Amino acid sequence: MSDLTIRRVRPGDPDDRKALYDICLRTGDYGNDATSQFTLPNLLGDVYVGPYILFHPLHCFAISSGNRPVGYVLGVPDTHTFEKHLPTTWWPQVIAALPERHPDSPALTRRDVEVMSLITSWEPTAATQILEKYPAHLHIDLLQEAQGGGMGRRLIETLFDSLRAAGARGVHLGVSSSNPSAIGFYRHLGFTTLDQDAAGLTLGKPL
Ligand SMILES: CC(C)(COP(=O)(O)OP(=O)(O)OC[C@H]1O[C@@H](n2cnc3c(N)ncnc32)[C@H](O)[C@@H]1OP(=O)(O)O)[C@@H](O)C(=O)NCCC(=O)NCCS
Repeated sequence: MSDLTIRRVRPGDPDDRKALYDICLRTGDYGNDATSQFTLPNLLGDVYVGPYILFHPLHCFAISSGNRPVGYVLGVPDTHTFEKHLPTTWWPQVIAALPERHPDSPALTRRDVEVMSLITSWEPTAATQILEKYPAHLHIDLLQEAQGGGMGRRLIETLFDSLRAAGARGVHLGVSSSNPSAIGFYRHLGFTTLDQDAAGLTLGKPL
């Protein structure tokens, strides 16, 4: 695609927010479309998009095709502070909207239940020794139509600049072992393995 541009996400624009939630869902199965796996389509976005664009819009960038977002990178410069505040600033409103509180809600899928339990029993994810050197973290997702043309690199380098300007010395991210294509991308960009368990890898890069 030739008409792709990078711009900041517009946190107050409901269309932008909806588009980013949609991208999150459509890349939520290890990079593939997870739409059919959820009856609650906003759950993944509530974890991986909502608090980023609300609390750190300066570090949230979209790839736009015309005005339509087709990809994003979302970052925070200080993961510890971000995660410390989520239990009071973000999770209560997400939990209040969960279907447990709405008895007439549709039947839940296995992934609905998985992500709901991640939300209701949420705990800070990053280890202290990782945060010391790699305090920032990020999520990047491009729709298939925007992949493979260099926009992932441009987007993540745009975020690196904004994280550096905010004083972050390093950035980390989590990636599933079932997403080898993303792992290849991150390694190609200079990320190295900081930690590994059955679910996946924590990768990091100095800024
Ligand atoms: C992973 C993703 C962000 C990469 O973005 P992209 O636009 O497809 O990648 P780019 O075209 O910008 O590639 C940038 C560079 O990485 C290289 N690269 C990309 N994938 C690679 C791979 N699997 N192995 C090795 N190198 C890879 C490219 O060759 C390119 O190299 P160059 O810049 O030196 O020429 C994108 O494909 C995506 O969003 N996938 C689906 C969602 C997802 O899996 N997100 C990550 C969740 S943790």
